[in-house]
Amino acid sequence: MFSINVTALLFACSVLAKEFDYIVVGGGTTGLPLAVRLAEYWNLALVEAGGRYEKRYPLAKTPGADVLPVGSDPETSSSIDWGFVTEPFLGANGRRLHVAQGKCLGGSSALNFMVDHRPTKQSLEVWVLLTSDLSYLFENVLPWYQRSVKFTPPNTATRFENASVLYNADAFIPSGGPLDVTYSNYAQSFSTWLEGGFEEVGIHRAVDFNSGKLEGYQYCSSTIRPSDQHRSSSEWSFLNQRVPGLTVYTDTLAKRVIFDDELNAVEVEVSHRGFKRNLTASREIIISAGALHSPQLLMVSGIGPRQHLENHGIEVLVERPAVGQDMWDHPFVGPSYRVNVEKVTKLANSPTYLASKYLRWARKQLGPFTNPVSDLLAWEKIPYELRKDFSTETLQALSQFPDDWPEAEYISAPGFLGNISNLKADQPDDGYQYASIIGVLLAPASRGTVDTKSEQEVVVAMFKRIREVFASNAMDPVVIGDEYLPGNQVQTDEEILEYIRENVMTLWHPSGTCRMGRIQDLAVVDSRGRVYGVNRLRVVDASAFEILLPGHPQSTCYMLAEKIADDIIRNGADVAEDVRTDL
Ligand SMILES: Cc1cc2nc3c(=O)[nH]c(=O)nc-3n(C[C@H](O)[C@H](O)[C@H](O)COP(=O)(O)OP(=O)(O)OC[C@H]3O[C@@H](n4cnc5c(N)ncnc54)[C@H](O)[C@@H]3O)c2cc1C
Ligand SMILES: *[C@@H]1O[C@H](CO)[C@@H](O)[C@H](O)[C@H]1NC(C)=O
Ligand SMILES: *[C@@H]1O[C@H](CO)[C@@H](O)[C@H](O)[C@H]1NC(C)=O
Ligand SMILES: *[C@@H]1O[C@H](CO)[C@@H](O)[C@H](O)[C@H]1NC(C)=O
Repeated sequence: MFSINVTALLFACSVLAKEFDYIVVGGGTTGLPLAVRLAEYWNLALVEAGGRYEKRYPLAKTPGADVLPVGSDPETSSSIDWGFVTEPFLGANGRRLHVAQGKCLGGSSALNFMVDHRPTKQSLEVWVLLTSDLSYLFENVLPWYQRSVKFTPPNTATRFENASVLYNADAFIPSGGPLDVTYSNYAQSFSTWLEGGFEEVGIHRAVDFNSGKLEGYQYCSSTIRPSDQHRSSSEWSFLNQRVPGLTVYTDTLAKRVIFDDELNAVEVEVSHRGFKRNLTASREIIISAGALHSPQLLMVSGIGPRQHLENHGIEVLVERPAVGQDMWDHPFVGPSYRVNVEKVTKLANSPTYLASKYLRWARKQLGPFTNPVSDLLAWEKIPYELRKDFSTETLQALSQFPDDWPEAEYISAPGFLGNISNLKADQPDDGYQYASIIGVLLAPASRGTVDTKSEQEVVVAMFKRIREVFASNAMDPVVIGDEYLPGNQVQTDEEILEYIRENVMTLWHPSGTCRMGRIQDLAVVDSRGRVYGVNRLRVVDASAFEILLPGHPQSTCYMLAEKIADDIIRNGADVAEDVRTDL
């Protein structure tokens, strides 16, 4: 009790006389790198609701332990997660799902599955069309994708010989960093078999997923530090040394943004262990609280859909109907089989095996715990044999997406999947090993569910493709018996769809809830992240994505942090006389 009051008192004193140039709210995947880049030039406050995850949840450092805290069971909790649970929704047969989101320095980069790749060229052209901003063309954002990343080629001495990695070293720059991107020292042996299965159904080996193309399969690069095979999060990389100019407030919740009479954002009301203060920003306030919290902060600060704000008794400063709307995510699901390769199932069911493998990671940087579990990815448009049965409505919905935008992603999942309720406890304890292939819907017509007819037709086709892979001759030596779940009795499209609804989960990619774009299209922020209708306020994180690009979004969060930081450094805030000319 005493220590808490002392902290609160210190907190109060430390901010009494403090005025900052910039305040960044949210020390996550986007906010933390953005704050560190700006701190080279200005005085910053970084306000983060959580603390250091290495202390609160040390397992977050271990790639192979990433599956533990993220299950869909509404009771799932961990000390670095916000514990969001959805309302019951139709596409999931009225189930309520836990959706993990990081609450710590590093944000969701401390909880994610570490897959790191870049989107396709034409998907960024869609972004350009919707924002009228050519600076988002692939070749124009490429330097910002590259800037954060220090790339290290795979360690061929430790990986299986039959799990070699192709990559394009030219996709990275020597001066990039500090975020480490490399490959696990260990490949999932299930993935080595899956390669043959993909080939047989017509999905071929790709060279690289970092140069604007997502087609075919390969081992993806991951946010792993090669020296010790630890997770490389935004915090572990950008904040592993003291940053002069940056004051980090941990365990501090931003309550709302306060405006002056000219609608300039000037203060953030924050709360630390129940103790409230106002922090002042002389230049700008930047919200990077993630796709679920950034719109909430705008709304409690008076920016959002009028009716919604009035229902909650909030005075409307600026009406922006799209705040909190238009969320995109990627639904996923997949069947499970018994296999005769050593898998996650054994780790889950044998404590001694688990302990020995954990020590192998900690002491030697080897073994399954160096692997973030999902290492082999594949992308495709649903091929003609299945596509020919799609309705006109579905074909029309899919034609909205450009040629290089894959409709389906398949991810190697060396364990039992089911409804992803609890990836450890759900592993059957019957002596068998299990493996699954996750199918991810990348071209949803609605926003992140499987409610429309076109989405349903595509996910069913995706499910059938996964069954073709498991039925391939290449996989035959490792697959034991018939499909375990849902099993061969599930055959018609309607039966498959029912299984999908009962087991679907979202891939933790919520985005677009404060989307950027043109003011006449009711966007919330412009393409530089500036909130329409007020001054000196930006939103920069996954909520500001114009669209959810195909694949995994963390690289785009880092890109956005670098791009907007550069924009601010070059052009200053809305304060013209401070424009820097020495760059
Ligand atoms: C389980 C999981 C697996 C994933 N796997 C992958 C993957 O393999 N590859 C990939 O590319 N992407 C993956 N993602 C998605 C990716 O990690 C996210 O899209 C990305 O991290 C989002 O970054 P962000 O900056 O928008 O938000 P976050 O990184 O979540 O940061 C938001 C921060 O704001 C803080 N905050 C919120 N509200 C407040 C407030 N009021 N006051 C102060 N602080 C506040 C939060 O605590 C958090 O630290 C995964 C995500 C999850 C959760
Ligand atoms: C997952 O399935 C189990 C067993 O069928 C069930 O008890 C649980 O409620 C389901 N969880 C979710 C989140 O759907
Ligand atoms: C690749 O090698 C690993 C390790 O020897 C082995 O477990 C796996 O079965 C092999 N895969 C194939 C396809 O032969
Ligand atoms: C912060 O500023 C607002 C607006 O001026 C004021 O209403 C509020 O009481 C202040 N909060 C604190 C903790 O000083």
